[in-house]
Amino acid sequence: IPVPSPPPALYPSWYAPAPSAIFPNLSLPEGFIFGVATSAYQVEGATKMEGKGPTNWDWASRQPGFIQDNTTADITDLNYYLYKEDAARAAAIGVTAHSFSISWARIYPFGVAGSPLNQEGLDHYSDVIDSHLAVGVDPVVTLYHWDTPLALDAYYGGFTSPQIVDDFVNYAKTVFQAYNGRVKTWYTFNEPSVSCGSTSQYPFNASMAPGVNISTAPYQCAYNLLKAHAGAVKAFREMGIQGEIAYKNNDFVGLPWRSNTTDDIEAVERHASFGIGLYANPVYVNGDWPQIVKDTLPESYLPRFTEEEMADLKGSADFFAIDSYASQYVAAPPSGTAGCQANMSDPAWPACNSVVLYDSNAGWAVGPSPDPASNSWLQATPQMLRGYLKELVERWPSDKLYISEFGMDEPYESMRTEMFQILEDSTTTNYFMTNLGEALLAIHEDGIPLMGTFSWGMIDNAEWNYGLEPKFGIQHVNYTTLERTYKRSAYALCVFTLVLCFYM
Ligand code: NOJ
Repeated sequence: IPVPSPPPALYPSWYAPAPSAIFPNLSLPEGFIFGVATSAYQVEGATKMEGKGPTNWDWASRQPGFIQDNTTADITDLNYYLYKEDAARAAAIGVTAHSFSISWARIYPFGVAGSPLNQEGLDHYSDVIDSHLAVGVDPVVTLYHWDTPLALDAYYGGFTSPQIVDDFVNYAKTVFQAYNGRVKTWYTFNEPSVSCGSTSQYPFNASMAPGVNISTAPYQCAYNLLKAHAGAVKAFREMGIQGEIAYKNNDFVGLPWRSNTTDDIEAVERHASFGIGLYANPVYVNGDWPQIVKDTLPESYLPRFTEEEMADLKGSADFFAIDSYASQYVAAPPSGTAGCQANMSDPAWPACNSVVLYDSNAGWAVGPSPDPASNSWLQATPQMLRGYLKELVERWPSDKLYISEFGMDEPYESMRTEMFQILEDSTTTNYFMTNLGEALLAIHEDGIPLMGTFSWGMIDNAEWNYGLEPKFGIQHVNYTTLERTYKRSAYALCVFTLVLCFYM
């Protein structure tokens, strides 16, 4: 393990008391889940083992320069073989659920309905599920966390083709059938606006696999993905599968940078509609795209749903799940911004209509200049969590909400080891404690039906096109020995969990 050197100057205390520390009512709703999250590509490794087919990310990670630190996820945490240990280590710190994904290419190496099923892959996840249940950790299963069987990308362009719908539903049915009764919470898709948007978003230079750079691709992808989601949920219900199903949303509604200006309030509306709303509106509101999106994008960009498709989409989720990493402000674009002018002629470029200012806490966004005119990043606080949870439930009503991922990347270089040689990820610890405190207030003060939180990640892992460099885990992983070590944040979460469970 690289030994982090102590920072030169004054160092913040590792623990800032959460607002909940002074909040008298610590009780949580019965059944509240303290979970952790991972995904197949990011932690499993063993990419060529036991009959798995190659995926878009196996391919992309071999393209020179695609992964920033030139690593692949061929080994990463080797969770494919170490899942029993990982489940036990999660249980040991009081975690009650692990949200992980199944790699489609381990079940159907070629992806296509009617192509050979890989029984070894199906048996593998069966044992993963049983191993979690055996240590009292509920398995939460995502069917698609961005790794598409490569054959489908090569054959018809993956999610940009309507052919994917039947293939995905076929895969979903196989998995539902195999694990029915053992999994209580299911997700069809993880963060669709990222997999459809960043994989191909013009003019973002297609930073994620498969790297398609066509301006209509994100919308074709959204259309096909939503139909695949609705088809899988329909099958889930028709097959009488036990438990609940939804998909994982991401992004924030966005809060107006200058809350007293109509321009910024309208920018928030546009940002929400072209981002999270593109998916949440069809599923949680009326089966259709947000009106403003339909008014902006011609059918050649954004296919329209039929009446039947709309009926299938509306209500195709049993609860609402949000991956909430950082709060963000949204502002109206300053007139004459070069980037926007350059792309104004392309209606597929909604960012022209709003400027997003992220929270630099998320780790991938740095440079705290609070100036919307320069389209730069903005430091925000976890105190915004309550505001946007309120926005979420107002816009997309649901009886139950999970924070299906939250967390941050903290480089080892900024950490130090203190008492008992614990790796001090003090900023992350602070992040979790303050966000959890705010979540408690959201439950008690605002009546938000929040029923669980999932920390990302259970262990350090392969962060997509950034490679192994970012450190989102509450456990350190030595990539030579594969040894796992709890960081300070893991202990803090454990204490938080135990205290709250005591009051439950
Ligand atoms: C959300 C994604 O689901 C996950 O795959 C990613 O690692 C984290 N964000 C951190 O970027």
